Parts: sequence; structure tokens; C-alpha cells
Amino acid sequence: MKTINRDTLHTVRLHLNGTARSAPCTPRMLLSDFLRDGLGATGTHVGCEHGVCGACTVQIDGVASRSCMTLAVQAEGRDIATVEGLCDPDGPMSDLQEAFKRHHALQCGFCTAGILMSCDDYLRRRPDPNEADVRDMLSGHLCRCTGYTPIVQAVLETAALRRAHASADALTED
Ligand code: FES
Ligand code: FES
Repeated sequence: MKTINRDTLHTVRLHLNGTARSAPCTPRMLLSDFLRDGLGATGTHVGCEHGVCGACTVQIDGVASRSCMTLAVQAEGRDIATVEGLCDPDGPMSDLQEAFKRHHALQCGFCTAGILMSCDDYLRRRPDPNEADVRDMLSGHLCRCTGYTPIVQAVLETAALRRAHASADALTED
């Protein structure tokens, strides 16, 4: 019978925030650990490590996903987006991040990277959410500090501002 060596190293190649990256990992290494320890993307946080808290949320090919529930080898060839990719390192923050700042939608910040990655994906798919929609989306994330209301306000305001800008752009083009 063939013996599987669980410590055999594989090289995983992927795109992290638009840049081709690679690093070795064992077959059972989690994507969350690979991002943090293999690629140095420590903006992604690790809490429960079993899919409950949402702190480790990244986007895989644009879809918000738990990186603690994904093996690093499953990310081979995929586009991975983390919180570091929401804005340029030296540039202004994204509109969503600015809204979080305005509404004090974070305190300790442990949950924030994961919540931002979920919200970023969600607002692309749902440009006109209501409060219940946003609270439903946030039910996949645990935040022990904010009580969630400022986060909901930040997401709704971002959606409203994006719609207003889109309308203004459409009028300019007419
Ligand atoms: S660390 Fe992944 S869901 Fe909690
Ligand atoms: S801001 Fe502290 S857990 Fe959410």
C-alpha cells in the first residue's frame, strides 16, 4: 500500500492581490497559515480556525471564503484577494475602509479584515442592500467590540455613495 508522506512539500503558485506569488507548503497546510506564514500577508487574521468567526475571510476568485476552511494546495492557480489589496500601500483607503473609519466600525480590529473582505464582495453583488440584508451578511462574522450597528451603517453608506456616484457619472455621459 502506498504511504502518503504528510510532510512532503509542494510549491503553491497563485496570484495574491494581483501579484504572482509562490511558496512551499505541506498538503495539510491551511490557506490562512500559508498566506500569513508563507507569503507574509498577515492582514488576514486567524481566530477560531473552524469556520465560525469569519476573521480569516479572503476572496478566492472574487468570492468571500474562509481561508481556515481551505487548504493552501486548493488555492493553486487562483486569484486570492486579502485586506492588503483593498487599497495601495501608500494610497488612500478604499471608500469602504473610509466609511468604516467615519462610523467607528472597528475597535480592536481583529474581525475587521475579514469583515471588509466579505463586505467588498457583497457590495459588488448587492449594490442596493437594505439593513436586514447587511445584517444577514454580517451574521457570518463575529465581532466582540462594535455591536455591529456602526458596521451596518458603514456598509449602507458605502452602497448609497456608490449609487450616487454612478448616477452622477451616467448624467455626465448623457
Ligand atoms: S478563523 Fe476562519 S472562520 Fe474563524
Ligand atoms: S472590532 Fe474587535 S472584534 Fe470586531
